[in-house]
Amino acid sequence: MIKYLGHSALELKIAASNILIDPFISGNPFAVAKADDYSPSHIILSHAHGDHIGDTYEIAKRTGALVISNFEIANHFAAQGLNIHPMGIGGSYTFPFGKLSFTPAWHSSSFDDGSYGGMPMGIVLEIEGKRIYHAGDTALFSDMILIGAKSIDLAFLPIGDNFTMGSDDALEALRFLKPKRVVPIHYNTFDLIKQDPYEFKEKVEANTSTSCIVMQAGDSIDL
Ligand code: NI
Ligand code: MN
Repeated sequence: MIKYLGHSALELKIAASNILIDPFISGNPFAVAKADDYSPSHIILSHAHGDHIGDTYEIAKRTGALVISNFEIANHFAAQGLNIHPMGIGGSYTFPFGKLSFTPAWHSSSFDDGSYGGMPMGIVLEIEGKRIYHAGDTALFSDMILIGAKSIDLAFLPIGDNFTMGSDDALEALRFLKPKRVVPIHYNTFDLIKQDPYEFKEKVEANTSTSCIVMQAGDSIDL
């Protein structure tokens, strides 16, 4: 089960694991619950920006969740006493929930105080025989062809424009990734990233063989 928490945040319930990706909860106008309501076993972070790190510290401090991210973000949280698992772009590791790999993303990754947050990343999860790609914050880039070389069941792509690719480039990304299903993310949270996800859905379904699922915060889908 995968629940969309608004912006780029997801909650995945996989057997005994409960995973949060980019848990931006308390500052998120679409939040459907409080940060205190989540009890993850794992938190996966794509990059250090505040709208992705979100409530990681508070949630992981309370629950002991393992924080998985790049070397710099992992060490930032280790210094604050959290349990961490550092990884690098292109690396994979098999966790109890399945195999996680980090991909490149074209973006930046500083913490709110300006300190260095390593390289931004996308996330590939191989879970229960399905392959999921969460692009993080990124521009369109042609190496998405490599990510799509093995079939993708479900992709989460930013469409908000301004800080990431917009809907036209996300449509182009689908030609590289060829996922069975796509969910648009990272839009309408702030004034600078206003987009109509239904317009995107129409374009996707008129131009590709991917089906587009517009999720409202709180909606869930099966893998
Ligand atoms: Ni960002
Ligand atoms: Mn962002």
